[in-house]
Amino acid sequence: MLIRPRRNRVSRAVRNLVRESSLSAPDLVLPLFVHEADVDSPIASMPGVSRAGIAATVAKARVAASLGIRAVALFPALSDALKDPSARESVNPDGLNQRCIRALKAALPDIAVISDVAMDPYSSDGHDGVVRDGRIVNDATLPILAAMAVSQARAGADVVAPSDMMDGRVRAIREALDAAGFPDVLICSYCVKYASAFYGPFRDALDSAPRAGDKKTYQMDPANAREALREVALDEGEGADWLMIKPGLPYLDIVRLVRGQTALPVVAYHVSGEYAMLKAAAEKGWIDYDRCLMESLIAFKRAGADLIFTYAAIDAARLISGRSG
Ligand code: PBG
Repeated sequence: MLIRPRRNRVSRAVRNLVRESSLSAPDLVLPLFVHEADVDSPIASMPGVSRAGIAATVAKARVAASLGIRAVALFPALSDALKDPSARESVNPDGLNQRCIRALKAALPDIAVISDVAMDPYSSDGHDGVVRDGRIVNDATLPILAAMAVSQARAGADVVAPSDMMDGRVRAIREALDAAGFPDVLICSYCVKYASAFYGPFRDALDSAPRAGDKKTYQMDPANAREALREVALDEGEGADWLMIKPGLPYLDIVRLVRGQTALPVVAYHVSGEYAMLKAAAEKGWIDYDRCLMESLIAFKRAGADLIFTYAAIDAARLISGRSG
């Protein structure tokens, strides 16, 4: 036999030399759920993840930073009393999200704060857009999203991340940021976001599930791939700085497709349901959490993702820092 592929696997040294993809802490973004109370409230469907007050949220970001993670993504959980049909709380300069951004930037100026732009955490309808007569109204939503992004930029967000899937929102946000004097604030567009049941635990965490209907008139049909290319072309043209695909593992073909289509950084979101599956199977003793986690994350890199949002970012960064081949 002249050709033996096993020679390239013969020892740890050789395997490390020929490894095609790598994962390091700066590849990871840690999502954080913040709430008003100064107590941690665990999220049942996401073991190891909790909603925390601002001080504890800053402490989590500090741990992440000490492990080499460079960015956090912030998601506020608001009480129902603050929710209304037009998400007015989202532009309150002293709102929870704004205060948390300020606290994070004051404590950890070198950590990038990524702030989610969408109506659902603030909306009494639980949708990402304005609801009128049971329909999600695209164009009426755009100024709300733009104002929300400006408010977050004013609080100090480095990156705003529209996760709503309204048409035209990247341009609306870019123009509003520029007009308000924030030309250097980045837009991470949730460009290719599918209508996925894997978001279930996240909606538990924020109590943000739609009060009626579903998100299928704005989030994409899981059966579609070509449609992703339309979203990529639009968001690039509207000024997006990063393009996100979401969920993650079930959509690695889309990560690969988008990677081949754009020169922009590609971001993938290892979403709440994916995290929950790993944790649940590990709790049952059916899989090895650490190894399945690292295998999942390297798969994102192999598919072409530059950045990975994952609730397991701290676990992964710890494993990376102690890793051997
Ligand atoms: C809301 C938003 C969602 C997620 C991030 N931003 C949920 C949704 O669209 O219903 C999901 C994240 C996850 O499941 O981890 N705009």
